[in-house]
This record gives sequence, C-alpha cells and structure tokens, in this order.
Amino acid sequence: MIKLAPSILSADFAKLGEDVVRIDKAGCDWIHIDVMDGMFVPNISFGMPVIKAIRGLTNKFFDVHLMIEEPIRYLQQFKEAGADMVTVHVEACEDVEKTIDEIHKLGIKAGLACNPETPVDDIVPYINKVDMILIMTVHPGFGGQSYIDECTEKVEIVNAIVNEYRLDTLIQVDGGVNTENVCIPLDAGANVIVAGSAVYKGDVEKNIEVFKNKFISF
Ligand code: DX5
Ligand code: ZN
Repeated sequence: MIKLAPSILSADFAKLGEDVVRIDKAGCDWIHIDVMDGMFVPNISFGMPVIKAIRGLTNKFFDVHLMIEEPIRYLQQFKEAGADMVTVHVEACEDVEKTIDEIHKLGIKAGLACNPETPVDDIVPYINKVDMILIMTVHPGFGGQSYIDECTEKVEIVNAIVNEYRLDTLIQVDGGVNTENVCIPLDAGANVIVAGSAVYKGDVEKNIEVFKNKFISF
C-alpha cells in the first residue's frame, strides 16, 4: 500500500490546526512534519511546541523529518511532542548508528534521509537498521522546488536492496513530487510519497484524491 504524507510546511501557519484537520479528513495516510534549524539547511521552520499543539487534532501517524544538526540531542523531546517516526539525515549525524538506536530505544520508528548530492553508498549500510529510507528529491530547506530527476536512480538502488534481502524498510521520496510526476518515484519503488505544495495549492481534497487514484495501480 502506497502512503501519502502531505507536508505541513506548505500549510497556512496562521491556521495550521485547520490545515492539519483538513488533510486528515481528506484521507491522507501520514502527516509529514519538516523541522529545520537554520544550520543544516538555510531555513528555520518550527519545533516541538508546534508539533505538540497539533498532536491533539488528529490520530494520524506523525512523520517528523529533522533537518537539523546532531539530532541526537533532541530525540526524546520530539518523541514527547508526539512523533511516531523520526527521520534524521545521514549528513547531520556524527554517529548514525547510535542515533538510529536511540530513536528505537524511545519506542518509535526511525528513518534515515540523504540529500541529492549524497551518494547512495552512504545510506546502504543502514537500510536493514531503519524503518524507512528517505531519498530527498530536492535540496532540503524549502517547499515548492522542482523534482531532481537524478535522484530517481537512488530509489531504484535502495528498492533493489530491499527486495533482494526481503526487508520491510519503507522508501520515501520528498521534494517536488506532484500528481503529474508521482509515477516516476513510484515506478522506481518508492512507497511513501511526501507532497507539500502539490497538496496545499488549490483544492486540497481534490489533490489528495488525485494522488490516491494514481496510487491504485501500484
Ligand atoms: C523540503 C522538505 C519537504 C517539502 C516538500 O526541505 O523536506 O518536505 O515540504 O515540499 P514540496 O512538495 O512543495 O516540494
Ligand atoms: Zn520533508
């Protein structure tokens, strides 16, 4: 089953609660929550208090994407704020394995992300240690960018490994995915689709329905 994880980075922050309830009611699978520290990426979004504030509005799975340096410092706090999964960047952790272990020790799922310029070899050693691999398909930091085609090959490589070793590691893509191009990462083996602007721009309910219809044949 393919999952749709709308990114609330593209929501209207002046009415964030309403925008969260809207994607929930429209049938999204997960809620993708982008946390940026202004160090790992050149932008600052929001942190734990905001996650805590929306946690009471929905029972959907909170997929927290940490674009922050040394996320190990804050894992406990993100769990307490309501994260069901925390995804960290391979480029941002001094000790990747320890960070993954710490996430699991908290009793939540762990994801590992890699930037477009990061070789897939950097994440391969961890595919069997995490619940999800996140292949970034834009340079992280901002919503509304264009999908970088070269990243599709990394999805194929991770998918081949997952199949070969019969792993249940999920494969997520994030950045520039819309209803027109979503079949590209799906064909490559992605099974969790993040979409920010493609969900929140225009008619949210309709956008989610179109995404879900595209998923049917996969
Ligand atoms: C980018 C974030 C993405 C972003 C995606 O740094 O990780 O989750 O919100 O937005 P779109 O779908 O608009 O590219
Ligand atoms: Zn993200």
